This record gives sequence, C-alpha cells and structure tokens, in this order.
Amino acid sequence: MIRTNRNQEKYIQTGLDVGSNKICCAIMEVDPNSDSVKLLGIGISPATGIKKGSITHRDQLIDEMDLALQEAQTMADINVQKLTLGISGDHIRGINTQGAIAIGGTNGPNVPVQHEITDGDVHRVLELAKAISLPVDRDILHVLPQEYVIDTMDSIKDPVGLTGRRLEARVHLITVATTAATNLASCAEELGVTVDGVVYQGLASSISALVEDEKNLGVVCVDIGATTTDIVVYHEGGLRHTATLGIGAASITNDIAVMLQVGIEEAEKIKKTYGSAKASMSSPALDFELPAHNGQIKRKVSEHELSRYVEARMVEILQLVMREVSRADVKEKLTYGMVLTGGGSELKNLVGLAQETINMPVRIGKPNNVSGAVDVASSPIYAGAIGLAQWKNLGEDLSLIQKPESAITDTMKKLKKIVKEFF
Ligand SMILES: Nc1ncnc2c1ncn2[C@@H]1O[C@H](COP(=O)(O)OP(=O)(O)OP(=O)(O)O)[C@@H](O)[C@H]1O
Ligand SMILES: [Mg+2]
Repeated sequence: MIRTNRNQEKYIQTGLDVGSNKICCAIMEVDPNSDSVKLLGIGISPATGIKKGSITHRDQLIDEMDLALQEAQTMADINVQKLTLGISGDHIRGINTQGAIAIGGTNGPNVPVQHEITDGDVHRVLELAKAISLPVDRDILHVLPQEYVIDTMDSIKDPVGLTGRRLEARVHLITVATTAATNLASCAEELGVTVDGVVYQGLASSISALVEDEKNLGVVCVDIGATTTDIVVYHEGGLRHTATLGIGAASITNDIAVMLQVGIEEAEKIKKTYGSAKASMSSPALDFELPAHNGQIKRKVSEHELSRYVEARMVEILQLVMREVSRADVKEKLTYGMVLTGGGSELKNLVGLAQETINMPVRIGKPNNVSGAVDVASSPIYAGAIGLAQWKNLGEDLSLIQKPESAITDTMKKLKKIVKEFF
C-alpha cells in the first residue's frame, strides 16, 4: 500500500545536507527494488552561513551550497535538476498522535457487516491523526505511521485489505518552524534546482545508519553535528520520539579554545589529533606542544588533561540525549541501545565513554548498503547526505503519497476544465 506509486526503475537522487560545519551533497543511484544505493558523486564545502539550523549569512550559504553541489556534479558527471534538502535546528519537534474512524456499517437493523479497509480509509484516518492545532508559524514536516489498530488487533503495519469496524492510526508527527524551512528551501532554489523534499536531518541520518532489526527492537540514533545533535528513537519499527539539541561537537572545540587560550582553528586541530572522549584512556605521560604566538613561550599540555575537558562536555551531551530518550513513549529497554553518527561520533574512544555513561550497547553508525565510491563515503559524517538521497525510496513518510482522488473530486476537476475550455 505504502509504496505503490513509487517508481520501479532505477533513478538518480541527490541529497544536500546543510550543516553548520560542512555542507555535503551526495548524488546516488537508487534502485527501488533494493535497499542498496550506488554513490555517484559527493561534494563537500565548509559551512559558515548557518548555525544551529538558523541562516546567519544567506549569500555565503548559497555560495557554499553551490560549491558542494558543483563538486558532486563534477564527480558524478551529472547535472542535478532536483534534490532533497535536510533541515535541523532546535525548532524541530516530534509528537505522537492518533486518529480513528468507523469503517463498518449496518446492513439493515441489527445486521452488522464488516468492510474491507481501502487506501481511502487509511487516508481519512491519517487526516484525522494529523489534525492537531499548530501555532501559525509551524508546519507538519513528516507524518510517520507507527501502527494501525483494527478493533482490538494492534501492531498492524498495513491495514489495507483487512476487515473490521474501527480503524485507528497511531502516528509520529515532526513539525518545523515554517520560516526555517522556507528560507532554507529558497536558498537551495537559488542554485537553479528544484527542492523535491525537505527532510528532518536526524531522520535522514537514521535511514542510512540503522538496520531494520535495530528499528524493530529499539534504538536511539544520535547525529552529533557541530552545533546540533539530532535524536530519533525507534521501537517496534516506528519512530517514537524526535528532538534536536542546540549543542554539538563544536562546544568541545570552544572549551579547548578557552581552556588552552588558543584560536578555534587550532583548538579544532588539537581536538581531532589528541582529544579522547575517555580521559582514562589517554596517558598523562604523553603531551603535545602548543605553538607559540605573539612572543609567548611554547607550552606543553598532556593529552590526559586535554581529554578531561573533552570528556566532561561529551558526558553532558550524552546526558542531555538520555533525557530526551526518557521522554520517548517506550516502556521497554531499547535493545540495540545507541547508534552514534555525524562528525562528532568520530571523536576517539567515544563508544567506550558512551557505553559507560548510558549503560547500553553503543556503536558508530556509518552509511549502510552503499556501493560505488564506498571508501570515499564510509565516514559517519556522510550519513546525513546519503540518507537524504535514500529518503524517497526508504522513508515511511505518508505525506509522500499522493491522496487517491475521489470520484467526486475527479468529476469536479473535469467539470471545471470543461467550463474553462468553454469560456
Ligand atoms: N576525527 C574527528 N574527531 C573529533 N571530532 C571530529 C572529527 N571529525 C569531525 N569532528 C567534529 O564533528 C563536527 C562536525 O560534524 P558534522 O560534519 O556532522 O557537522 P554538521 O552536520 O556540519 O553540523 P550540524 O549538524 O550541527 O549543523 C565538528 O565539530 C568536528 O570537530
Ligand atoms: Mg549535521
């Protein structure tokens, strides 16, 4: 039912992940009959025009998006016409709602009949489930089904063709600040491409970093970016909770810059080269030299001392993530624990620290099922852009599906056309 209207032939899809540290464009060949995608081109540009999902310098951002797109186009030798755009920021909210409709009828007095559920019924019940009152400045970005309930039978993934009297849909809605989404899309359109979808970045990363078993038995996927951390919780195959924190790995860099009195660029290099998420795993005997600036004398700092700052900030981020996980509507334990992705997950010894802090299994989520230039895109930094390109094929977003036109609307359209032609 869900993907009947999707193209069955291979097609090219482009994802543009607009992050605050880098903009990444991935051009993929998608085969709707398989979960695997082929990477044709990838382009990266440093990003300076967006922070925590808010555009700070529009023109700069457009130039940087263009750079990433051009690079990917050159590598793939393809001219991109349309792309899927990723959005993040602490304006993203997720909520669980439900709607129910009667599907039965009576065949004369006291003779109940059961009707077969159609696509139209599913659309009706989803319309009800998403009819929540939203502030004027917010919009629904995704309608993600968790399960359907027919009478007393629950956990149904596809109700079409089954019979019953009452159909209930339980869905997870993701909402965004309208201004953030429209401004981002208008920047992308300046590149001369059509934006054929705006997707929550955390969701896109989870598409490429998670496997089905994890979504069924429970997992939280955490995309640690530079200024945002996207959190999505899955259980029983459906999305249960979404949240974005306005903090990321750039906070570690800032801490290092302040503590060691060095510039941000220098601090970033130090973090990547010597920083460890677990201070106990770096030796106090190993130290590195800070370059002398403006007549200062050279200083030596131990890796252990540096890693203490790194660990403190990372523990804070993990605790904030766990606070969000506890808000998810999941009673059982998340069997697969946590999957970390995004650039922040590249920090040394992060898995060890996370396992210790949250007391759950932890793994790093690299893009799954990618063929082609695999070695180029095997880092978790690319999970976002690759997931965006897979969204149309693998995303369970019901707003992607065309509503079946009712006979009445069809007739109305035809009538309008005739009237127009006549005059
Ligand atoms: N090898 C590494 N070790 C430690 N940190 C790293 C490493 N590589 C990247 N990072 C950090 O990851 C962050 C960038 O991650 P990413 O590229 O996913 O961010 P982004 O998507 O641009 O940002 P956001 O999603 O917050 O808008 C930076 O803070 C960077 O320092
Ligand atoms: Mg990101």
